[in-house]
Amino acid sequence: MKILIFGKGYMGARCASAWGEDTVLSDVFVNSVEDVLKEIERVRPDAVLNAAGVRGKPNVDWCEDHARETIRGNTLLPILIAEACQEAGTYLLHMGSGCIFYGDSPHDDRAWREDDHGNPVPVYSRSKWAADLVLSTLPHVGIARIRMPIDWTPSPDNLIDKLARFPKVIDVENSVTIVDDMVSVFHALMDQRAAGVFHVTNPGTVKHREILELYRELVDPAHACEWIGNDDLVAQGFATKGRSNNFLSSARLGEHGIAMRPVRDALRDTMMKYAHAKKSNL
Ligand SMILES: NC(=O)c1ccc[n+]([C@@H]2O[C@H](COP(=O)([O-])OP(=O)(O)OC[C@H]3O[C@@H](n4cnc5c(N)ncnc54)[C@H](OP(=O)(O)O)[C@@H]3O)[C@@H](O)[C@H]2O)c1
Repeated sequence: MKILIFGKGYMGARCASAWGEDTVLSDVFVNSVEDVLKEIERVRPDAVLNAAGVRGKPNVDWCEDHARETIRGNTLLPILIAEACQEAGTYLLHMGSGCIFYGDSPHDDRAWREDDHGNPVPVYSRSKWAADLVLSTLPHVGIARIRMPIDWTPSPDNLIDKLARFPKVIDVENSVTIVDDMVSVFHALMDQRAAGVFHVTNPGTVKHREILELYRELVDPAHACEWIGNDDLVAQGFATKGRSNNFLSSARLGEHGIAMRPVRDALRDTMMKYAHAKKSNL
């Protein structure tokens, strides 16, 4: 399967390196439907992955003061890419985010379903939810929502690195995405040309405290941090807006015969590989 990826950032580059030669990581900065059509014409892919977007640098709080850039990257851009894919008859997998949900869902198990409506307040989350709302009306489009990617490759964007470098950490519990599993799931979704919304998160939930306990056990026994309450994140000035914490149900993957490893198994395996990568300076 030939895959064309837009967005050569953290996720786009990681997917391209996992999938190898039959994948093209586009250099094009998309401003129009024509830009995308030209790339599709050049590459002739079986599927397109949209891994382009605006997450904010140094973090998502940037989006609060840059609403237009954020909307352009996370709402308008996916619509341009989807429009081109519809015209070319090419399947599109769009990367969404699970952080469109805040708090517990209305269901007894507190987990958000793929067809639940988002309740986001911050600009970034609202711009992502807006794209989901419109793209989910189109045929041959899949929306893969991920959360807090955890990978064995050290990177400033990896949740392991983020938690390890914060002097003060909130102990919250979340659904997360183990990136090794994510790249396989994305490939399977594109192979099936699966339409609709998918939560690409590993079964189970994990606390920040558990991730750092594993980090101390396998990577750095000397690591230390101070634990603070969730509300302290904004109260102590570490963030402008509170972060989304939630549990996601990934039942729709199961309906497509796609499974991810239980989060604790996948996390231990990933942390072991991460420790190895750190030691080998990978
Ligand atoms: N990483 C996470 O924690 C996370 C979690 C949930 C969902 N996601 C979603 O996953 C997707 C990929 O995220 P990421 O972590 O890989 O972000 P990233 O590292 O910031 O990469 C995004 C890439 O998209 C590029 N881009 C922006 N506008 C573009 C345009 N018009 N045409 C072509 N490329 C454009 C950016 O280029 P420039 O750098 O030049 O602007 C950047 O290289 C995003 O949709 C994000 O919302 C990520």
